[in-house]
Amino acid sequence: MNPLRLGILGSGKGSNFEAILDAIYAEELDAEIAVVLSDVEDSGILQKAMSKRIRAVYLDPGDYRTRLDPEVEEQMVRILQEENVNLVVLAGFMRILKEPMLEAFPRRIINIHPSLLPDYPGLEAWKQALEAGEKITGCTVHYVDAGIDTGEIIAQGEVDIFDDDTPETLLDRIQRAEHVVLPMVLKAFTDGTLP
Ligand code: GRF
Repeated sequence: MNPLRLGILGSGKGSNFEAILDAIYAEELDAEIAVVLSDVEDSGILQKAMSKRIRAVYLDPGDYRTRLDPEVEEQMVRILQEENVNLVVLAGFMRILKEPMLEAFPRRIINIHPSLLPDYPGLEAWKQALEAGEKITGCTVHYVDAGIDTGEIIAQGEVDIFDDDTPETLLDRIQRAEHVVLPMVLKAFTDGTLP
């Protein structure tokens, strides 16, 4: 898949979006970010995209708490298709995708999750690993399917857990690993290493 036209979905601060953009600017990754979409109007990821003059779209998610209103999800599909996006990256997108997105982009949606899946799916995975007394955790990039953090695993990065770690120090280290693993996976798509 060369060149990659990325659509990035996020709800948070957008550090993974920045890591992807840095890899593009450094010419380590032959890709273009076509559009950034968010369900959070004042999110860092939208602000960062706007400051880089990348199309940034807020979609009002509607009344559901954990998914998008189906019409909004159709709108998301239309925007991604009109931008000719060929890979969708969930970078901290906090809603579950349903049929409109899954059917429009089969095996073309990936997610970054802050644990070594299949361990600790769901929310605040780094806290779950810390509270369970793990010595190693990490991050996982996987294809998105209809489950929560259940899709086929593409790549992982391991992170040590130290005795004096707090949730904050651990998350910081996991995110630094994410910023390496996610661009590396995208590069594998451009190399044709990933189908
Ligand atoms: C990341 O830690 C990712 O694993 C999780 O949400 C966080 C997003 O962070 N799914 P950011 O918005 O990319 O900084």
